Amino acid sequence: MRVLSGIQPTGNLHLGNYLGAIRNWVRMQDAMTDGSECFFFLADLHSISVHEGAEQRRANVRHMAAALIAAGIDPDRSVLFNQARVPAHAELCWLLMGTARIGWLNRMTQFKDKAGKNREGASVALYAYPVLQAADVLLYQATHVPVGEDQKQHLELTRDVAIKFNADFGVELFTVPDPYIQKETARIMSLRDGTAKMSKSDPSDMSRINLTDDDDAIMQKVRKAKTDPAPLPERAADLEGRAEAANLVGIYAALAGSTPDAVCAQFAGQGFGAFKPALGSLLIETLAPIRTRYLELIEDAPALDAILEAGAQRAAAAAQPTLRGAYEALGLFR
Ligand code: ADP
Ligand code: TRP
Repeated sequence: MRVLSGIQPTGNLHLGNYLGAIRNWVRMQDAMTDGSECFFFLADLHSISVHEGAEQRRANVRHMAAALIAAGIDPDRSVLFNQARVPAHAELCWLLMGTARIGWLNRMTQFKDKAGKNREGASVALYAYPVLQAADVLLYQATHVPVGEDQKQHLELTRDVAIKFNADFGVELFTVPDPYIQKETARIMSLRDGTAKMSKSDPSDMSRINLTDDDDAIMQKVRKAKTDPAPLPERAADLEGRAEAANLVGIYAALAGSTPDAVCAQFAGQGFGAFKPALGSLLIETLAPIRTRYLELIEDAPALDAILEAGAQRAAAAAQPTLRGAYEALGLFR
């Protein structure tokens, strides 16, 4: 079993990223008892698909590294690095360009969403983004890729690339990976709209809980979260049609290590006036220690850089055999 995942170092982490992705990374890391390594990286090469100044990008990489460590990624046990420090990612991406099909990329919903109406004006990097993602995964022979629901399509493309490359060149070079999606937390929704996912690109900061929000901000956002006047039902099934209520119950259950049914049973008959403070306290309990650690780590840029550099060296060594195999399979000199 080899676990690998990445996240773009853009903006701050929010509760959706934490519950949908990072917390699962930490759990998988902590479950590795046989000495096998997990690989977690900051997808800074992916981030060039959107324009940003150099200083900002450098800062974002350090912020995200600090956030991951604060959330529980241990750079001694897991390999933590940023893509750009490991040239094998860019190299394998190019080698896979001959295998990935334009028709496959044209179906990617993330490109359609992010490019919006101005598709002609989108960068080539935004379009080819899933090929780099395939390289990220295939370089390390990853078997399990923990991601949120929105990355499922990219993982399917990664599988298609692996299968086609192996077949076209008659090799068994790439391991075909499986996405690992924790159903309960795969889609944490906006606090303002139960039909939109919580996202850093939502213009309203009240729609999300950021990992850097202080206790008061967390409590205020929960109190102002959109809900309905009805009390909580006895069973989670009766939350149907109440998207905002179901989202808050789901978040409570995820944080308490419980189930939506158990949460409903506990609060049955009570309104959100009672439920929201309990949820706010639970959020603060979970996030405050992460925030405190993050604020300490972010003060020491050289230490963060050293962690990423050491991780990159381990990653580069792990990637080398597969990269070489790809050059050889293609009949390219190396
Ligand atoms: P955003 O949508 O805020 O831009 P990203 O696309 O950078 O977030 O996602 C980073 C990781 O967090 C991915 O694995 C993604 O699946 C997960 N993720 C993002 N938003 C959510 C959410 N609302 N619920 C669950 N997981 C999420
Ligand atoms: N595209 C992913 C996202 O937006 C980040 C990512 C890049 C990734 N490379 C990856 C995730 C490889 C898993 C595996 O969240």
